[in-house]
Amino acid sequence: MVFLMKCSPKKPCCKQVIIKMHVLLLKEPRDGESGPDPYIKELASHGHKATLIPVLSFKFVSLNTLSDKLFQPEKHRGLIFTSPRAVEAVKMCLEAEERREEWNSSVKDKWNAKSIYVVGKATAALVRNLGLDPVGEDTGTAEVLSRVIIEREDTNIPPLFFPCGSIKREVLPTALRENGVPLETLTVYQTAEHPDLEKNLKNYFTEQGIPASIAFFSPSGVKFCLEVVRRLSGEQLTQIKFAAIGPTTQDAMTAEGLCVSGTAEKPTAEHLAAAIAKALQ
Ligand SMILES: *[C@@H]1O[C@H](CO)[C@@H](O)[C@H](O)[C@H]1NC(C)=O
Repeated sequence: MVFLMKCSPKKPCCKQVIIKMHVLLLKEPRDGESGPDPYIKELASHGHKATLIPVLSFKFVSLNTLSDKLFQPEKHRGLIFTSPRAVEAVKMCLEAEERREEWNSSVKDKWNAKSIYVVGKATAALVRNLGLDPVGEDTGTAEVLSRVIIEREDTNIPPLFFPCGSIKREVLPTALRENGVPLETLTVYQTAEHPDLEKNLKNYFTEQGIPASIAFFSPSGVKFCLEVVRRLSGEQLTQIKFAAIGPTTQDAMTAEGLCVSGTAEKPTAEHLAAAIAKALQ
């Protein structure tokens, strides 16, 4: 919110004062990264005070199977990663020194001779840390990435290997199937509601009051939080500016009857902070 303030009569001037507003981000802290969260930093640069409350908790599963597949690159045409957490699962498989050595000395190059597909910059950065050269960093959505893959791949290939989460959206598998590109998926992490979600939301509303804006980062975030948010904000719900990280989350919010005041043009901290700042003007 921007106010124009008159200064004292002695020093007549007119200055813009930006009132710090509270923004609630319903997301997990970023994986494998220390330091301030980029979303909090971006919102601070717009003058707003953002807080994270994690919505989901994750559990890795089938890591033995994942490890077997990773060390048999000849069986697949390439790899697909659409979430940082799936890359994290691969990293766990490489924790043992002798596995990592084998990976470094030969296995990663066998994969690099194939195709390593990623959606988004965060996932790409983690994939690079494993010594892999990803394609698709700038795709941003599963839909765009599937188009890239379909363009580059034949139907007559060994399957692409796709380690993913239990709540995966079907956009990519469906698009590849419809175009005859072979795919093998493996669930490597399971997603559930964060055990402290309701408690953390209550504490936030008690301590900081009703936020000026709330941002959702996934359809499951909407599913797990909305009822509690409605209960805690009561009649003031309509004053909250709701923001979405992207079109899928926006659809989930609209389906629940929320009025969406801003959606990030791309799923980055910069774009979301810009959308929220605009909604709060
Ligand atoms: C493997 O390579 C990474 C750099 O890509 C390096 O940090 C790591 O120490 C290496 N590990 C082994 C066991 O060779």
